[in-house]
Amino acid sequence: MADANFFDVVRSQRGIRRYAPDEVSDDVVRQIIDAATWAPSGSNRQPWHFIVIRDEEIKRQLGDLYKEGMMTLGGTKAPKPPTNEPGVPPIFSDDLASVPVVVMVCLEKWPARGRDNLLGAHIFPAVQNLMLAAAALGLGTRLTTIWQHKNVEVMALLGIPDTVETMAMIPLGYPGGDEHLGGGKRKPIDDVMHFDRW
Ligand SMILES: Cc1cc2nc3c(=O)[nH]c(=O)nc-3n(C[C@H](O)[C@H](O)[C@H](O)COP(=O)(O)O)c2cc1C
Repeated sequence: MADANFFDVVRSQRGIRRYAPDEVSDDVVRQIIDAATWAPSGSNRQPWHFIVIRDEEIKRQLGDLYKEGMMTLGGTKAPKPPTNEPGVPPIFSDDLASVPVVVMVCLEKWPARGRDNLLGAHIFPAVQNLMLAAAALGLGTRLTTIWQHKNVEVMALLGIPDTVETMAMIPLGYPGGDEHLGGGKRKPIDDVMHFDRW
């Protein structure tokens, strides 16, 4: 799918919850991160850093922190297994240790960085590029943030300095189980497009 049509790729990209064990080569990871770095950022500051995690023990611990983060959010219930059943929240709950690669996207802070609520604007274009590039190569991703309820522990685990913010953790691998790219659901464009005024 290397020469995939852009508009097909955009529609195929979706949050994958189960991953095949198939290897994802360093070259492929590099190609995807390179695409991420072509995103825009304020003043072209390019504040992004990408921690590419393959170490199984680190991924296992990140998975545990992810699940603890989910429990913080949702009460005491353990996360549910991946499913497409109606009514079940479409949340990543696969075993992170078994996902070939996990990418932690970070933002290096700067002194006059403006309002905090704009911080994400400097990084999520790169995150989207990353996910689209992966989809163009047939790889699945999922933007996750729930683990941020355990951010202190995540920062310590990955040795991230406090001049840096963690922004998104993205599993990366070929879709596994019955998961596949495409088939996402979106509102009809006529429900969200306005002309001249709201
Ligand atoms: C800001 C943001 C945070 C998200 N956090 C999580 C998360 O922590 N865990 C998860 O499984 N999915 C997370 N998602 C993925 C969304 O749930 C998913 O993209 C959405 O349900 C649409 O599904 P689709 O991408 O498969 O079409 C997040 C998405 C965004 C944009």
